[in-house]
Amino acid sequence: MSIAEKFATMEYGPAPEDPKEATAWLDRHERCFAHFINGTWQKPSAGGYFDTVDPSTGEKLASVAQGSAADVDAGVKAARAASPKWQALTPHARARYLYAIARQVQKHSRLFAVLETMDNGKPIRESRDIDIPLVARHFYHHAGWAQLLEQEFPEYVACGVVGQIIPWNFPLLMLAWKIAPALATGNTVVLKPAEFTPLTALLFAEICQEVALPAGVVNIVTGDGSTGEALVKHPDVDKIAFTGSTEVGRAIRAATAASHKRLSLELGGKSPFIVFEDADLDSTVEGLVDGIWFNQGQVCCAGSRLLVQESIAEVLIAKVRDRMSSLRIGPPLDKAIDIGPIVARVQLDRIRRLVDQGVAEGATCWQPQVALPSLGFYYPPTLLSNVHPTSIVAQQEIFGPVLATMTFRTPKEAVELANNTVYGLAACVWSESINVALHTAAQLKAGVVWVNCTNLFDASCGFGGYRESGYGREGGREGLIEYLEPKWFKSAPTLRAAKAPEPAGSEQLAESSAPAIDRTVKLYIGGKQARPDSGYSMEVRGADGRLLGEAPLGNRKDIRNAVEAARKAESWAKATAHTRAQVLYYSAENLSQRRDEIAQRLAAVVGEKQAAAEVQIGIERIFSYAAWADKFDGAVHNPPLRSIAIAMHEAIGTVGIICPTEAPLLGFLSLVMPALAMGNAIIAIPSEQYPLITGDLYQLFDTSDLPGGAVNIVSGYASQLLKTLAEHDDVDALWCFGDESQAAAAKSVSIGNLKQVFTNEGRAIDWFNPKVAEGRWFLEHATQVKNIWVPYGE
Ligand code: NAI
Repeated sequence: MSIAEKFATMEYGPAPEDPKEATAWLDRHERCFAHFINGTWQKPSAGGYFDTVDPSTGEKLASVAQGSAADVDAGVKAARAASPKWQALTPHARARYLYAIARQVQKHSRLFAVLETMDNGKPIRESRDIDIPLVARHFYHHAGWAQLLEQEFPEYVACGVVGQIIPWNFPLLMLAWKIAPALATGNTVVLKPAEFTPLTALLFAEICQEVALPAGVVNIVTGDGSTGEALVKHPDVDKIAFTGSTEVGRAIRAATAASHKRLSLELGGKSPFIVFEDADLDSTVEGLVDGIWFNQGQVCCAGSRLLVQESIAEVLIAKVRDRMSSLRIGPPLDKAIDIGPIVARVQLDRIRRLVDQGVAEGATCWQPQVALPSLGFYYPPTLLSNVHPTSIVAQQEIFGPVLATMTFRTPKEAVELANNTVYGLAACVWSESINVALHTAAQLKAGVVWVNCTNLFDASCGFGGYRESGYGREGGREGLIEYLEPKWFKSAPTLRAAKAPEPAGSEQLAESSAPAIDRTVKLYIGGKQARPDSGYSMEVRGADGRLLGEAPLGNRKDIRNAVEAARKAESWAKATAHTRAQVLYYSAENLSQRRDEIAQRLAAVVGEKQAAAEVQIGIERIFSYAAWADKFDGAVHNPPLRSIAIAMHEAIGTVGIICPTEAPLLGFLSLVMPALAMGNAIIAIPSEQYPLITGDLYQLFDTSDLPGGAVNIVSGYASQLLKTLAEHDDVDALWCFGDESQAAAAKSVSIGNLKQVFTNEGRAIDWFNPKVAEGRWFLEHATQVKNIWVPYGE
């Protein structure tokens, strides 16, 4: 073909990236890799080797060690041994290591990009222009956090040894998202790459050697799910950070529930891509290409559900089809390729199976007429229309280049459709009206919302999910918190079982119960006093065994009613921070007015001194959270793109709180007030030792203008009620501040719905000390960060 003819057709010629350097690197290692443990290469102890292949040809690239439990143990031991010295380094010294890693990534960026594309199949354009630059950026950004750590987090320490398990879709980028914040905060690491894509992690290990990172600070143990499982179960790991499927996320939650391991999960998504009728449709189509065909759609935040306003559906779909026909599919090392192969045969089969099922359920499937390469695991870009919102292709993550389309009429319907999923990772909103776009963004249940853009990432902006997309964030300040713990908490003693009141002898009882039962209180649900469904009550006795009164025994049904009331308390969620502060101040004022009578009653259980302190410090605690209500707000990030990212602190929603036994009033206020101040609606289980406090509390709330349902109180046996709260799908988070067994139960009973759980891990908390029992640590658990990206400029 002559140049003139080429010019007429505008056909691309082949533009392959040279793989020479990468193949030389593989050959230098004789295409066989051991684990990287304690700064050296260590052969697998038992598991042998497995192959990693090039998905564009199916050919073997190298053999990689299969990690056994013994290999994982060696990695953990090395990380543990390295931990004290790494933590003792100055922040500046740690910053220099991270900075050196960032520099080396940049120096080897071409090799990294080619190797990534060979192992994963993603187009070289993406690994070269997106993945690897973001990796370097992540290490630079976190070198900065390492430097500032003591100034910015003075009361926090590293978790210790962290086990990190990553997927295959962004192999090196996920490594960076995990390792950079962990090292910056003083943790040491054992990382397990995905079995399909271990190579760039192994090249990264060489970089750790090049920068003379102390041995054992980063260990890389390769292998499959069984290796990951051994890491999760290892008793000497302090925290697990996982990115991958929701199914494995659940298994990890189950395996860690009874331990004290911290856990952050970044799981799947089914992210909506919402297009309003006033959107700029040409930009929208380009956004869609990045949203669903970037990395062959193997992206956890892929905009896989196209929700388009009915009036423009036909026009938009026609444009989308046109654009799909010009997407170039082929060998990913070619610089002009848009879509490469799927990572592995099993994933390809999975995509085919899901699309077939979607079609069987009534969806119409459209694919452009493109020739797929004869070798390799290719799948064409695919558009599914007439998709019913309950169809498998509208609900399940496909993780392939498949777009499911649905229409809506009104903005309200768009939000309902968008939120009609168990996930909540990301969302896109396309509209030329800033009002419509931001109003919609605010209502979406997703950790990231891109307005008129898609798939933008930066180290300064947290990324992570709502609901079954997981919890915890990666990137930004909120990402660091995942690798830190309050100093005092780390060394807090285990809670001794609260001292049970001495059982009184019968004569004593007869004598002291002479003045008839003092009080009978009720449950407090939806702003009203309510009788328990069971009709039963529990006796409440003072420290001397005297009967003080009766508290209702709440059951499953009462909890359900309370959850329903909490879900209806929308006015509280929508109230301004100023209003919430006013209500809290008002309740402090009311507590202050009734301090003597409340303290007097409480004294019968905890003694006069503690009762007086609980009331006094309780008033101060409410004041603190009233103060925080309009100050614990978000941030505006400036990522190195023409965008701002608005990091909003949002309430989690409905929070169940098991209050501590030992400080019936102050413990209740210390947990309920931060959650309430941030706009959550609460179902609280008061101290089993003195549930009569409910009577004082509802009087307090009734007289403080708190809307009904914002706080609900159900007394009863905490161990039973916490199960109902944990199982309830409409409870978004569970806080459990009882003993160790209750902490474990809270985590394990909620595996099904993966709700966020915040516990004291059975440790004692000094509720009387504001330095430990008050402040940011609680507020951070009462909120989740939503990043709304808004581009600017022409
Ligand atoms: P996966 O969740 O099985 O694998 C992710 C990582 O977890 C890998 O390193 C794997 O070896 C490890 N792993 C597997 N079982 C484990 C266990 N029991 N304990 C500890 N670690 C374990 O994901 P897979 O099978 O590769 O992909 C299946 C589906 O998962 C995809 O089709 C996609 O829908 C979803 N996925 C989502 C990702 C995300 O970024 N959210 C990433 C990868 C997959």
